Amino acid sequence: MVKRLIVATHNAHKTGEIQAILGDFFDLIEDLTSIPDLKPPVEDADTFAGNSAIKALAASMERPDALIIADDSGLEVDALGGAPGIYSSRFSGETATDASNREKLLADLAGIPAPRTARFRCVVSVAQGNKVIASFDGKVEGEIADSMTGDGGFGYDPLFIPEGHDRSFGELSEEIKNGMSHRGRALEQFKKWLQGRS
Ligand code: IMP
Repeated sequence: MVKRLIVATHNAHKTGEIQAILGDFFDLIEDLTSIPDLKPPVEDADTFAGNSAIKALAASMERPDALIIADDSGLEVDALGGAPGIYSSRFSGETATDASNREKLLADLAGIPAPRTARFRCVVSVAQGNKVIASFDGKVEGEIADSMTGDGGFGYDPLFIPEGHDRSFGELSEEIKNGMSHRGRALEQFKKWLQGRS
């Protein structure tokens, strides 16, 4: 039987990272382009766990037989009281882009001395048969640089220097990022869970 996974996202960067991390476990990993009729759900929970469950369930309603995962993730900056947090993708407004979000983050942190401690968080929810059947969370600590470096990754990667490194996720290889990232750590637990099921 073909082992198939649907990742409930339209973010091609996330799908790419998830494919790199889980590629050996599945014969086919698709994203929401495989469910074109799915209306994007309103992500109105106030936690990463809540919003990832909303996304996983919405996709599961359309494809109840499929194994679905959804990732909700974001950046928490201590000097900003944990912002942007669950609002990471819309930090600079409804028409936000990754670039405008990074600009706003640098502007909001202007004058705040290093270390501007921060972390990425990710919750992966697993759904099947219209139910969330498991969820896993991961985080990576680090700090926010005072300028952008590198063009790898996505989102806030060119500004985030993970603990133990002196280069940003934008400069580090995909392999290094995936081996220590919030998403990588949550997906490692998902892999163990999959191994326990088979
Ligand atoms: P979501 O798609 O609603 O989970 O929003 C996640 C947002 O958090 C993204 O749009 C990015 O701004 C940020 N984010 C999450 N994970 C990462 C990452 O691995 N690198 C950089 N930014 C990230």
